[in-house]
Amino acid sequence: MTEQTIDEQQPAAIPTLDVTPVSDAIGAEIRGVDLTDINDATFAALHAAWLKYGVLLLRKQSLSDADLVAFSRRFGDLDDAPPNENGKGGVNGFSEVLVLSNVKENGKAIGALGNAEAIWHSDMNYIAEPPTGSVLYSLEVPDSGGDTGFCNMYRALEELPADIRKRIANLKIKHDSSTNSGGFLREGAKPVTDVRECPGAVHPIVRTHPETGRKALYIGRRRYAYIMGLDLDESEALLDEIWSHATRNDFTWHHQWRVGDVLIWDNRCAMHRRDDFDDSARRIMHRTQIKGSAPF
Ligand code: SIN
Repeated sequence: MTEQTIDEQQPAAIPTLDVTPVSDAIGAEIRGVDLTDINDATFAALHAAWLKYGVLLLRKQSLSDADLVAFSRRFGDLDDAPPNENGKGGVNGFSEVLVLSNVKENGKAIGALGNAEAIWHSDMNYIAEPPTGSVLYSLEVPDSGGDTGFCNMYRALEELPADIRKRIANLKIKHDSSTNSGGFLREGAKPVTDVRECPGAVHPIVRTHPETGRKALYIGRRRYAYIMGLDLDESEALLDEIWSHATRNDFTWHHQWRVGDVLIWDNRCAMHRRDDFDDSARRIMHRTQIKGSAPF
């Protein structure tokens, strides 16, 4: 048997990344990493930073759809992109890549969401196993508008007044699946007349992050939410109170995009939103989504 050196026996040491927090609330910028050229050790360091900061920003990236998918797959299996308002899912042969855009070609939108505001939400909160996170890459951005905001849901829970925290400890929200974050009725969905009757998954309001073990608020999106078992008025009042607290400015950070930016967010402990923008400007983003598991 040939003798192994220490180096051969040990996995590569996790490198130290250049990490700069982007706000007091959430998020960090990673400098000096090219996402088309990372090894397992660099990915492990990125992953650890992602768990710590909730959102990572990497600038000056140049990714093909194949690169975006290959990098995203390091986090886990990917969801297929849902069909956009024109019924089209995926792009350039990559079923996992969702295009978010206001650009129209031959009179048809090439992507989802248009130029509309997207209100605060967690992605696909209305399904049984919401995604773990997303990777969003910018190809074209307007000079102003279309900023993406993030909210730290660990902090939102930690700083919730004690009486509300006690009240919600064992409560669950029904997360309506009728409308999307732009307010559009999803295909086949009926207009909502009573939130108690809405279709959608039921999840605990306080969830435990499966990787960090930390507890976070999980409130999905405000529109048509319902706290199971409460009178309608009581549910509405409690939701309003939780939402106005959770989206406080000091829990949030807003990113102004440049071409080549990549944002990677953890959907289990961060909510996000997007500002609207002038429809005469072009915004094209490609996004992947990492498959998730049931919140507990
Ligand atoms: C979203 O995923 O809700 C929209 C993000 C964005 O377009 O910046």
